[in-house]
Amino acid sequence: MNRLCVIPGDGIGHEVIPVVVAALQRLLPALQVVTAEAGWECFQRNGRSVPEQTLERMRDCGAGLFGAVSSPARKVEGYRSAILTLRQALGLNCNLRPVRSWPVISPRSGIDMIILRENSEGLYVGREHMQSEDIAIAERQISRPACEQFAARIVEVAEQRSARRITLAHKANVLPLTCGLFRDSCRQVLAECGWDAQVDERLVDVAALQLVESPESFDVLATTNLFGDILSDLACYWSGGLGMAPSLNWGQGIALAEPVHGSAPDIVGTGRANPIAALLSAALLLRYHGQQPELAERLEASVEAFLAEAGSVDFADRTTEIIADGVISRL
Ligand code: NAI
Ligand code: MG
Repeated sequence: MNRLCVIPGDGIGHEVIPVVVAALQRLLPALQVVTAEAGWECFQRNGRSVPEQTLERMRDCGAGLFGAVSSPARKVEGYRSAILTLRQALGLNCNLRPVRSWPVISPRSGIDMIILRENSEGLYVGREHMQSEDIAIAERQISRPACEQFAARIVEVAEQRSARRITLAHKANVLPLTCGLFRDSCRQVLAECGWDAQVDERLVDVAALQLVESPESFDVLATTNLFGDILSDLACYWSGGLGMAPSLNWGQGIALAEPVHGSAPDIVGTGRANPIAALLSAALLLRYHGQQPELAERLEASVEAFLAEAGSVDFADRTTEIIADGVISRL
């Protein structure tokens, strides 16, 4: 990885992303960094949440780092979520969301799973309309090509971590066409690649219960877009919450690292933003896109060592700064 497109976005994106850039520059001294804009403030300035120039810079670099963006919770004419636009325009069809136990801050030890969320369709295709004044309709699209591309990513992750188990979570009992197509296309690719013995299935509601009851039983958990969004937020409780939850949007030869959290308007400017989710997202970028697992491990080991030594202290309004210094000095 020699070029990186940095998109801080809105809110605490501007606070956590500089920490990650500093860490990456320590690990990769020759890294060239270009910045680009996206998000709600960008929309208010330019009338677009993702300008064409940002897409060009991302394509040019192949690797990106995204902070967080704000989105209005009501319909705003002409506005489309920046992260959804980036995922779709750049073909980032898989979202990796690892969940693991960390020293001190995790409520339980022994958890190490990765949730793979299909990132391009499902209920996120954005096709909603009012059928009448009292009936709102949202379309859920599941297509064989998207599922097959997603399943190819499941295989890569399973190989990378020598998976003992691959769980497909769906709701094919209620949604036999959409969830059925998802399950069958994934199963077919996994079988063709020799992983059929490791594959099992869960209805998504049962998977949610088991993520609470027996999280250590999961290894690779793969599911559709909305289910993955919800299950991964639930599961990140075990890592220590949203401030500890990383993700990677991953496509063919292109990837965008992104902490799971949003722009956190309630703490923006207070110095309380935890940069670890963003730092661990960069580790995913190094491991899966950059093919530099040793650098990813160095970054994760620094986070682990910092947490083990820091204990459960509340860093209050110096959180960002103390964690940044603590992790970067251990690299
Ligand atoms: P949020 O993730 O921004 O915040 C939820 C809670 O977690 C808040 O109390 C916040 O202070 C805390 N939190 C989040 N990240 C943290 C960190 N790094 N360190 C310490 N505490 C942290 O989600 P919320 O409040 O639902 O949404 C706020 C805005 O962010 C909305 O406009 C929403 O649309 C947007 N959003 C954007 C996402 C993205 O960019 N991918 C994802 C989720 C929300
Ligand atoms: Mg979410």
